Amino acid sequence: MTSAVDLYPELDTPQALIDLDVVDRNVSAMRALGRERSVDVRVHFKSLKCGGLAKYLMSAGFGTFLCAKLNEAEVLVDAGIKDVLVANQVVGPLKARRLAALATRATMSVCVDDAGNVDELAVAAAEVGATIGVLVEVDVGQHRCGVDPGEPAVALARHVLKHTPALRFLGLQGYAGHIQMLPDLAERTAQCRAGLQLLVETRRALEAAGIPVAVVTGAGTGTANSAAGFSGLTEIQPGSFVLMDAAYHAACPTYGCALSILTTVVSRRDERYVLDAGSKAISKDFGTPVIRGCPADRVIAVNEEHTIVAPGAGVVRVGDRREVLPAHCCATMNLHRSCVTVRGGKVEVVWPIESSGRYD
Ligand SMILES: Cc1ncc(COP(=O)(O)O)c(C=O)c1O
Repeated sequence: MTSAVDLYPELDTPQALIDLDVVDRNVSAMRALGRERSVDVRVHFKSLKCGGLAKYLMSAGFGTFLCAKLNEAEVLVDAGIKDVLVANQVVGPLKARRLAALATRATMSVCVDDAGNVDELAVAAAEVGATIGVLVEVDVGQHRCGVDPGEPAVALARHVLKHTPALRFLGLQGYAGHIQMLPDLAERTAQCRAGLQLLVETRRALEAAGIPVAVVTGAGTGTANSAAGFSGLTEIQPGSFVLMDAAYHAACPTYGCALSILTTVVSRRDERYVLDAGSKAISKDFGTPVIRGCPADRVIAVNEEHTIVAPGAGVVRVGDRREVLPAHCCATMNLHRSCVTVRGGKVEVVWPIESSGRYD
């Protein structure tokens, strides 16, 4: 495999690169999964944070997105995306008004797990004459947000329905973040299906209470294959599959690593070489970054501004370049202001990463 040694001499380092050939392959694989199993695919923008990438995916056939934060929703709507789910709790009147303002420009939906929050979303939507779609979030095992499956979800859905037309009850979300990268695939699949079973039983409880359910959504990159086609689930919501990272790729090899950080060797000793990017540019929160194309090289430390590598085979000189595959793509996109797209080893365009460094 080609290493980055001679690649992209026109770029200074460190620089985030997105290989669009790899993105295309990842996107085709996920689209094929959705098509073959008759399930909608909504792409999680928290992994991307870049409006140019959202537009690129839209042109590849993905028209619906979800995100974790309002600033991401704002970037998506500004990029021309027409259907956005904020797959999170949007709490407080200031944020409720931001969501309602977006709902005057695009089809917006949000997750809820609290009746008081439902009330404040309804007030904000009514103020601007908008309608916000609502999914009741169900805790399917992660024990983060969400009401318990069954009757608590039915009670909250009834509360949402009281606020028609400011709010439109759409259905349920249940996301099991804790299992996405379980190394044992059989265990991951079993836990995924157990969570989906709770979600689908809750759907049946709603329907038995006379409440129609249009959307039942969940699953990420690591469980997409186990979830797609599960009876009663209408949508999967993966995000990492677009860019991927070294840690997720190890758990989910179907999708290749499209995101790398181009770096330069700035110091060299017999037992190590040192790159000009560290944890301020390369996320390591899911494990250890990897040097692309150099399987014998081993990252031994990631300091703030340096990555230290034990070399394997081959000659390494100061000034050589290396592509580093981060251990977490979502957190790495959050560290960079822009990314350079490449295709066939050639630089294409620069995209700003509008939501990087934002938490609101
Ligand atoms: C609500 C929700 N849905 C889906 C995902 C899927 O993301 P990924 O594809 O990165 O596993 C996440 C990841 O954090 C999430 O929080």
